[in-house]
Amino acid sequence: MSFVSQFAALGSESKVADALLWSVFALGVLKATTFVLSFSSVLVDLFVLPGVNLGKYGAKKGQFCVVTGASDGIGKEYARQLAQRGFNLVLISRTLSKLEDLKADFEREYKVDVRICAVDIAEDSSENYSKIQEVCSGVPITMLINNVGQSHSIPVPFLETEEKELRNIITINTTATLKITQIVAPLIVKSAKDARCKGLILTMGSFGGLLPTPLLATYSGSKAFLQSWSAALAGELKPQNVDVEIVLSYLVTSAMSKIRKSSKMIPNPAQFVAATLRSVGRRSGAQERYATMTPYWSHAIYHFVIENTVGVYSKLANTVNYTMHKSIRNRALRKAARQAKKQ
Ligand SMILES: NC(=O)c1ccc[n+]([C@@H]2O[C@H](COP(=O)([O-])OP(=O)(O)OC[C@H]3O[C@@H](n4cnc5c(N)ncnc54)[C@H](OP(=O)(O)O)[C@@H]3O)[C@@H](O)[C@H]2O)c1
Repeated sequence: MSFVSQFAALGSESKVADALLWSVFALGVLKATTFVLSFSSVLVDLFVLPGVNLGKYGAKKGQFCVVTGASDGIGKEYARQLAQRGFNLVLISRTLSKLEDLKADFEREYKVDVRICAVDIAEDSSENYSKIQEVCSGVPITMLINNVGQSHSIPVPFLETEEKELRNIITINTTATLKITQIVAPLIVKSAKDARCKGLILTMGSFGGLLPTPLLATYSGSKAFLQSWSAALAGELKPQNVDVEIVLSYLVTSAMSKIRKSSKMIPNPAQFVAATLRSVGRRSGAQERYATMTPYWSHAIYHFVIENTVGVYSKLANTVNYTMHKSIRNRALRKAARQAKKQ
C-alpha cells in the first residue's frame, strides 16, 4: 500500500476526520514545497545568478554616489568598489585627513570625481546638515549608501549603558541617517529622472537588528528601527524609480567589530561589499522580507536557517544571543582589567 493510500485509510472512518487529515497533509505538502522553493531561491541568488549591472543605477554615466561613514571599514570598501565601477563619490565621515587621503587615492587610481565632507554626525547639528546639503548640491546623485553606524564599545546591560553612548548610537544610527536621507533622496529622484536610470538607497542593517540582542539592546533596537523604516521607504520611493534596500550583515572584520581575522562566517569588508554590490535587489538569505538583502553567502544561509527553524524572535534565539554576548562582555572586562594593571 502506498503512503497516500495508507494515509487515506486512516481517515476513512469519519468524513470529518478524513477532511482533517487531508487538510494536514495538504498543509504539510505546501510547507515543504515553500521551504524547498525558498531555499533554492537562496542558492540561486548566491551562487548562480550573474552579478547585477550597476549601470542601471548610473555607473559610468557621470553620476555620484553618497557614502556615509566612508573613511574606514565597510564604508571605505563601498567607496572603493563603487569608484572601481565608475561612480563619482561624495564621501561623508568624521576625520578630514582620512577623507583627503581617500579622495587623492580614488581620483588618481579610478579617475573619478570625489567630493568630501568631514562632520561629526553624532552632533546632529543644523551646521552639519547644511554642510552635507552644500557638498551634495550641483552634482547628479543617483545612489546613497547609509553606512555610518555605531555600536556599544563592549556588550553592556541596558541599565548600565552610559547616556553618551546611548545618545550617540540613536543619533548616528537613526536620526542622522533619516535626516541625511531627507537631504539626498530628493536629489536622487531628480537625477535618476534626468539620467533616465534608477536610483538606489542602501542602508546598513545588522543581525543585531534582525535578532533582538541582549547586552546590545540600544544598538539592536536602532538597527531594527532601520529595518522597518527602510522597508516603508522602499514602498514610498518605488513609484519614483528609486530602489531602497536594507543590507543585513552578521560580523565583518572592522574597527567596530574588533575582529581582525576573517573566516568563513566573518568576511573582511572587501568580501562583504563585493557580495552586496553583485546582488543588489536580490534577497539572498532574506527570502521572507521585502526590500531586504542578506548578501554574504554564510550570513545568508545562517539567516535562512534561523528564520526557518527557531525563528528570530524566539526565546531560544534570545537566550543563545544573551549567553554569547555575556561571554564577549566577560572577556572584554578581563582584557580591560589586564591592561589597567599594566599601566
Ligand atoms: N563590522 C560588523 O561586524 C558589522 C556587522 C553588521 C553591521 N555593521 C554595520 O556596518 C556599518 C559600518 O560598520 P563598520 O564595521 O565598517 O564600522 P567602522 O569600521 O567602525 O567604521 C565606521 C565609519 O563611520 C565613521 N563614523 C563613526 N562615527 C562617526 C561620527 N560620529 N561622525 C561621522 N562619521 C563617523 C568612521 O569615521 P572615522 O574613520 O573618522 O572614525 C568610519 O568611517 C555600521 O552601520 C554597522 O552597524 C557592521
